[in-house]
Amino acid sequence: IQSLKGVHFVSTDQLSKEELQGLLDLSKYYKETYKAKGGLKPKPLEGDSMAMIFQKRSTRTRVSTETGIAMMGGHALFLGPSDIQLGVNESMRDTALVLSRFNSIILARVYSHNDIAELAKYATVPVINALSDLHHPLQSLADLMTLQEHFGKDLSGKTVAWVGDGNNVLHDLALGSAILGMNVNIATPAGFECNPTILAKVKELAAKHGGKVMTTSVAADAVANADVVVTDTWVSMGQEAEYAARLKAFDGYQVNKELMSKANPNAVFLHCLPRHPEEVADEVFYSPQSLVFDEAENRMWTVMAVAAAQLGKVE
Ligand code: CP
Ligand code: NVA
Repeated sequence: IQSLKGVHFVSTDQLSKEELQGLLDLSKYYKETYKAKGGLKPKPLEGDSMAMIFQKRSTRTRVSTETGIAMMGGHALFLGPSDIQLGVNESMRDTALVLSRFNSIILARVYSHNDIAELAKYATVPVINALSDLHHPLQSLADLMTLQEHFGKDLSGKTVAWVGDGNNVLHDLALGSAILGMNVNIATPAGFECNPTILAKVKELAAKHGGKVMTTSVAADAVANADVVVTDTWVSMGQEAEYAARLKAFDGYQVNKELMSKANPNAVFLHCLPRHPEEVADEVFYSPQSLVFDEAENRMWTVMAVAAAQLGKVE
């Protein structure tokens, strides 16, 4: 993953299979090393700092990054919507240019993906996309790490089924799964399909790496024989005004015991969190099949790997 030094981390499809696996291997190494009792812990980011721009709320991304960077000897600064001049008094371009003079990396959670593109265009240090309306690449790394922990490193031929909104989290999970040779089944209600350009990319990557892609509006068809069932909120941040209409549109898409029973008997459940009971019932969310809290933990080990790779400080 030497090739990621100085590179912006914007979406999962920018990674080659080797780079993706390299990040997952490094994440695993960090998890083992930092969790081990005793021993000297590496501090590869000593003297480095990360500016974290958050235009939306966050529990996992904020806490995992702040904690992970500190663990590696670096310093992360949380910059919420009312902490800095951005958006009110200052442009993304100027913010990028100024933060680049202080910090080694700029991480940003934004509404429009164009803001990430703008940041990446003008920043002179590596940028990390911490969620935009189109992509959530940090999440897909944690998801794939969790699946490799559970099923072993070779995920090729396994089927991941998405049930719900065709959103940012789906986009990167589908791209990453395709890169690792998995089959991708996607069930979304009419009008809530995933981005067509990204779907075309998923199909292209699947064809290259030996997987298949299917889309449907029937949840049970996507889940049939799946090894992994995944969903996310039906109402992403910024869509709060559509809450009632979305609840109606997604009727029948809840992941519950009955839907899980159509998947392989050994199937697991993933959800990036935060979670609402409408998209997944407690009987699945808190079941032994559910890997959601490993998945949440792995957000930390994976963002540490991304930062170290971008700074060329991989031990
Ligand atoms: N999964 C995730 O990104 O969670 P947060 O919104 O809490 O960061
Ligand atoms: N799809 C959700 C993910 C939150 C981590 C959102 O964009 O709000």
